[in-house]
Amino acid sequence: METKNIGLRGIEVADTRISNIDGEKGKLIYRGYDILELTKNSTFEETAYLLLYDKLPNRNQLDEFNAKLIDARFIPKQMQKNMGNWRKDADPMDMLQAFVAALAGYYDEEFANKEASYDKAINLIAKVPTIVASWNRIRNGLDIVDPDPTLSHAANFLYMMSGKRPDPEVEKIFDVCLILHADHTFNASTFTARQVASTRAHMYSACSAAIGALSGELHGGANTEVMKMLLEIGDIEKVEEWVKKEMSEGNRIMGMGHAVYKTYDPRAQVLKELSRKLAEKTKDPWFDITEKIEVTTISEMKKQKGKDIYPNVDLYSASLYYMLKIPMDLNTPIFAISRVVGWAAHIIEEKFAEAAPKPALYRPKATYVGKYCGPEGCEYQTLDLRK
Ligand code: ACO
Repeated sequence: METKNIGLRGIEVADTRISNIDGEKGKLIYRGYDILELTKNSTFEETAYLLLYDKLPNRNQLDEFNAKLIDARFIPKQMQKNMGNWRKDADPMDMLQAFVAALAGYYDEEFANKEASYDKAINLIAKVPTIVASWNRIRNGLDIVDPDPTLSHAANFLYMMSGKRPDPEVEKIFDVCLILHADHTFNASTFTARQVASTRAHMYSACSAAIGALSGELHGGANTEVMKMLLEIGDIEKVEEWVKKEMSEGNRIMGMGHAVYKTYDPRAQVLKELSRKLAEKTKDPWFDITEKIEVTTISEMKKQKGKDIYPNVDLYSASLYYMLKIPMDLNTPIFAISRVVGWAAHIIEEKFAEAAPKPALYRPKATYVGKYCGPEGCEYQTLDLRK
């Protein structure tokens, strides 16, 4: 019997210049640069420029890029008004997906032009944080906080969400989180974005579809699920029993495991250290509980299945965001705030790749295993004859 590549694991479907994962060594590269170096030396804005334009910006290029982001951060008043019509308990990912698609109704989309696609990319990168923060204010019955042109991308989101300007340490932590989540090759949401773009649909549509893919708990939605798990466990003494029970019942431990990394996810390593440091300051229990979950899952996986498992990017981001006083259901929208950069870069690459092999409309094959009544097909019965 023919073996199928369930979930397209390991199938190469396109060339990309944007990022690369070395799953054996636990390395993630953006446009040739190790992410660990970018987190130490660059800002999110520089990283976004790098991912979009294939080079690190010089001072003038960065100033120009920042100026464009500042101009584009405001969202239409009508859009904010429309948000007010949503149920206040609506999932922020559903709201984000809808309002990213709705951007096409406010801004002209030039489909065929590469330069115009960069403008759309900047529009999205600038506006996604404003949409998320505005919704958080609206659902809590608070006035919307306009973006502050003097603040960085990271600080702006925290300011628009909470109404308070973050201190430099918090701003830096959040900036690093945004850098770490900005791209990750052909993950589920990026593949979705590229697939939609391969039909020549526009960027807002492709990014909206990607947000839908990101929302699932096996992908970006895992970071919200991790925080729910931490709250449910609540006490480090209960971790072992909880994890053992879940795994013996065949349930997955959120934030653990990855389709590509066969060793420690480098992003998880950085987030773990940030979470550890923040917990030392805040005295919250969440870092210790998370670390115990990591250790217990690794040893149970070995015992139960003889396999290795490691934390992914979502394990330690959950406790980190919680300690930064970010509402738990914004964890996945925050992922989108950063990942929209990768989506946009991939959409541009998908549509405007100059070197062969150029991307084509995605169209995989399926094996039909449904009803078969012989070569002539099944005999059709009109409605009144059907039993
Ligand atoms: N907890 C318990 N068992 C697990 C976990 C986990 N987190 N992850 C994988 N396994 C087990 C599976 O049950 C399976 O066991 P089996 O071989 O007995 O059936 C085996 O490990 C392999 O599982 P696959 O799904 O084939 O492994 P894959 O590497 O493709 O899965 C995935 C990757 C989907 C991320 C998985 O590890 C998972 O479900 N993790 C939890 C959800 C999560 O954290 N998602 C975020 C991923 S990172 C991101 O998208 C941003």
